[in-house]
Amino acid sequence: MSGNKSKTLFERAKKVLPGGVNSPVRAFEPYPFFVDHAQGSKLYSADDAQYVDYCMAYGALLLGHAQPDIMDAVKAQLPKGSLYGAPTEREVEFAELISTFSPCMEMLRLVNSGTEATMHAIRTARGYTGRKKIVKFEGCFHGSHDSVLVKAGSGATTFSAPNSLGIPEETTQNTIVVPYNSVEALEAVMKRQGNEVAAVIVEPVLANVGLILPTDDYLNYMRKVTSQYDTVLIFDEIITGFRLALGGAQEYYGVKPDLATLGKVMGGGFPLAAFGGKREIMENISPVGKVYQAGTFSGNPVSATAGYTILKLLNQKKAEIYPKLEKNCAELTKALVDIVQSYDLQAQVYNIASMYQIFFTNEEVRDYACAKHSDPKMFDAYFNELLKQGVFIPPSQFETCFVSTAHCDEDLKQTITAFDKALNKAREKQTK
Ligand SMILES: Cc1ncc(COP(=O)(O)O)c(C=O)c1O
Repeated sequence: MSGNKSKTLFERAKKVLPGGVNSPVRAFEPYPFFVDHAQGSKLYSADDAQYVDYCMAYGALLLGHAQPDIMDAVKAQLPKGSLYGAPTEREVEFAELISTFSPCMEMLRLVNSGTEATMHAIRTARGYTGRKKIVKFEGCFHGSHDSVLVKAGSGATTFSAPNSLGIPEETTQNTIVVPYNSVEALEAVMKRQGNEVAAVIVEPVLANVGLILPTDDYLNYMRKVTSQYDTVLIFDEIITGFRLALGGAQEYYGVKPDLATLGKVMGGGFPLAAFGGKREIMENISPVGKVYQAGTFSGNPVSATAGYTILKLLNQKKAEIYPKLEKNCAELTKALVDIVQSYDLQAQVYNIASMYQIFFTNEEVRDYACAKHSDPKMFDAYFNELLKQGVFIPPSQFETCFVSTAHCDEDLKQTITAFDKALNKAREKQTK
């Protein structure tokens, strides 16, 4: 378990890194374990503890840690150089592959993070439409740039800063926020201001306030209403891309946005993301158009090699990989539901493909407001006991758990036993 070395490292870290971490979601009480190395389904701490990992770098590692084919491909690339500042054939074949899999991606740009991808997708939509306003949904997290840090999920909600300080209100005045899963709320906004809205940006499956699934036809409605007002529909598929299916939520739900952002899984564990979509929109980007977007490290050969390798693998083995992920995730969630019932807990469990989460509330969770009713004390008790049992999940109710292909039957067995102990601890905190 977390021991002296992690504690000492955290004390040192706090002196040079705000909160001792390089991303707020990594901090938890009393101190996070520090990682020494990782392999497959496991993280190994600086204190020699071993954890079955369901955080999987916040969903980035669909094939687990240090996947051998990806590591070998990167090792083969390194002696040839890590950055050129000039284009490569690898970027072209990688982009061709992405556009084959992702239904809306006629053209795309490679970038380094999800934040960059959504920032540039929004700018592109604004440049294309000549409009300023965007619509986002409560609890959706689209990275940490100014126009989307409004009622944002993930660490922004965990650390009570869904609206960040330091962002001029002139910027967020152009961001209209509506509750997720409400056709009425979106309809009302579009009726009033649809002609001024450049883009509607959404996580097709909300994975940054726990896990919330779209209600029937919600995404279809979004497609219909955005088309009606010539508003660009952006699916932020940083989490769902290559996870719900090879073609992401677009393929899973059969809804094609105008633009999409991809990240996490597509980098095979390396910094990589993309935004893209309709040719007519993407051709507005510099140097062919007047929407400026650039990046020194964009499409670098190391990340592009890792990304190309994972996408080739996913394509070759998709018939095996996706059903197995779904089956293992369903097994974990069934166990959670059974234990919840046997302990008579007030809790809801949701899952889709290889993602799951539990909320400690007795009501159905369909939006941000419902998610915030979840009991934080019960979640903390559940999280801490899981950790004690050697199972690591994201340390917040406002995140999602991820199953990878590296999780084996033995991992699942250990996890289910740990669920039982952890939910028993949560029960002790239940007030009614
Ligand atoms: C849906 C979504 N969009 C964008 C981002 C930002 O991605 P990054 O952390 O790579 O900047 C995240 C990060 O978790 C995300 O979940």
